[in-house]
Amino acid sequence: MEISANLSKSETLIEKENRYGAHNYHPLPVVLEKGEGVFVWDVEGRRYYDFLSAYSAVNQGHCHPRIVDALKQQAEKLTLTSRAFYSDKLGSFEEFICNLFGFDKALVMNSGVEAVETAIKLCRKWAYQVKGIPANQAKIVFANGNFHGRTISVISASDDESARKDFGPFVEGIVQVPYNDVAAFEALLKADKNIAGFIVEPIQGEAGVVVPDSHYLSHIQTLCKAHQVLFIADEIQTGIARTGSMLASYNVGADESSKPDVLILGKALSGGVLPVSAVLANDEVMLTIKPGEHGSTYGGNPLACAVAMEALQVVIDEKLAENAHRLGGLFRTGLTEIANRIGLISLIRGKGLLNAIVINSEETSDLAWQICMKFKENGLLAKPTHGNKIRLAPPLVITEAQIKECLAIIEKSLMEFA
Ligand SMILES: Cc1ncc(COP(=O)(O)O)c(C=O)c1O
Repeated sequence: MEISANLSKSETLIEKENRYGAHNYHPLPVVLEKGEGVFVWDVEGRRYYDFLSAYSAVNQGHCHPRIVDALKQQAEKLTLTSRAFYSDKLGSFEEFICNLFGFDKALVMNSGVEAVETAIKLCRKWAYQVKGIPANQAKIVFANGNFHGRTISVISASDDESARKDFGPFVEGIVQVPYNDVAAFEALLKADKNIAGFIVEPIQGEAGVVVPDSHYLSHIQTLCKAHQVLFIADEIQTGIARTGSMLASYNVGADESSKPDVLILGKALSGGVLPVSAVLANDEVMLTIKPGEHGSTYGGNPLACAVAMEALQVVIDEKLAENAHRLGGLFRTGLTEIANRIGLISLIRGKGLLNAIVINSEETSDLAWQICMKFKENGLLAKPTHGNKIRLAPPLVITEAQIKECLAIIEKSLMEFA
């Protein structure tokens, strides 16, 4: 490969990715080589606040020493057995996660979308074996504006043209319903006896941090119960303390009025150290899948189990949910004050430290991208989602002083566009 002369180290590496890598992402032009806590550094040594947190996977902060240590220790002992054999780590991790979230059983996978696929398969098995829906007639409901990953069955449930275009034909048995619309969901349940489940995000992250009404999920739970339909919460982005409580859908052991039948976790389950995802459910659902009917070579590997257990323990020990709740409130107040002073922000929304600002421009405008470039210049990394929205989601280990410094960076950057 020819590398043009006079390029910076970053430009050279970007050119290499463009030359040899598939063009399935449009990254901000920054090349990172190191991370610690809330900070990342580029190859020229510039330090940035990370306000994306790998799409909420590094809630515990970059390279958390306890999680990295768990990785190192386990890596030197045993990394992969496959599920052809038992390991000394899987059962302990399953016990830990089931007790933590209040379910009978866990099915451990790797990426988030694999866990969503697993939930779809579980839902269908349950539909035929428990609910008694006639063969191949089961339907699963998804919300408009959802994001659950990139496989064919999952994009079959998407209404985002850019995720679907030229990837058809799609999987059958999927029904769409408007998000945050209890009446529409109820009408659907009344009209169709073959509905098996509803897979829904407690807050729609990729859609631009869309927060539903406060009782939305408890209404969904009640309706699902009444109609013998599985309520399946995709907490891959909202879970593990991101929104100011361990989970966004229910409060383990306290308020379980919106506890789902199936819980899907990923991302921060491993603190961003390696891919680990999990589906949790009670026996009635989980035991419908029998040996040989579903699995993954790496799913539940000892390395993943050791890392995920430590990653969850860090969230508990460091009270990251409480920190996300407190600093999230402070952050939104600060953003509101900035919006009042500058007027470039049309909406601020979020919960805990999962927040977004909607820029006062069309979805097709590149203003949000330009603003993110300015944030970068001023030492903060964030990325637009759906054109004019910018998600602001730092690692949950951020401090009050750092939040204030970041608000100053955000204001300074926005001023240049006012
Ligand atoms: C709610 C939700 N579900 C599923 C996924 C897919 O996870 P992964 O990218 O690990 O496959 C994501 C990723 O952003 C997500 O936000």
